[in-house]
Amino acid sequence: MAKAASKSKKSGKKTAAKKSAAAKKTAPRKAPAKTSTAGGKKSLVSKIFNQGQDSEESMLMEFFSDELKDIYWAEKHLTKTLPKMQKAATSDELKQAFADHLETTQTHVERLEEIFELLGKKAQAKKCDAMAGITEEGAGIIEETEKGTATRDVGLILSGQKVEHYEIATYGGLAQLAKTLGLEDVASLLEETLAEEKEADELLTQIAENNINIRASEEDEDEEGEEEEEEDSDEEEGDEEEEEA
Ligand SMILES: [Fe+2]
Ligand SMILES: [Fe+2]
Repeated sequence: MAKAASKSKKSGKKTAAKKSAAAKKTAPRKAPAKTSTAGGKKSLVSKIFNQGQDSEESMLMEFFSDELKDIYWAEKHLTKTLPKMQKAATSDELKQAFADHLETTQTHVERLEEIFELLGKKAQAKKCDAMAGITEEGAGIIEETEKGTATRDVGLILSGQKVEHYEIATYGGLAQLAKTLGLEDVASLLEETLAEEKEADELLTQIAENNINIRASEEDEDEEGEEEEEEDSDEEEGDEEEEEA
């Protein structure tokens, strides 16, 4: 019906154009036709809009549930990743930060389970490729950095902050969506988690700025010193060239 209306509108326009080209003063004939088309369109538009709204709402709800499953997987995954990060960290301060955030993350898992319950849905996890990728990169950083160094901690902090920023983006967006869907209780729970993710991110920044980055930069100086001492070795220089290539 919408197509028919649009066709009749188009043909109406064409007819009007032809007519106005032939005789400009035939305009009054078009006026009643326009009014009737507009009246018909109003009810059609209203019907289509309402139908669209209904289906959009259910589609949005479905999308929202899917995103909850995604972050639920991510949080559960993090409860396994954070102990590894804690173990890999050099400084006690960073070890403690990861240990604390593990506890907070367990709360996030429980909070999501509460949300599923509020929605009358089973708590289901759906693999979050983004979080899988970020944590895989973090594992790579652990492999690439030396145990017991501040550089290892710099890498872990960077990796941890990528995790937090992904969570901040997700919870911020989901809280907003929950409000759009009229799920105020759900939005409040998501906002609680959002605030804790922001705190975790800020703590990591503080640890980096106050301590770790400086220590890591001193490590760089030490390493440069060692390299200078070893400059006699042609083999080492050769290796470096190979790495660059
Ligand atoms: Fe979390
Ligand atoms: Fe987090």
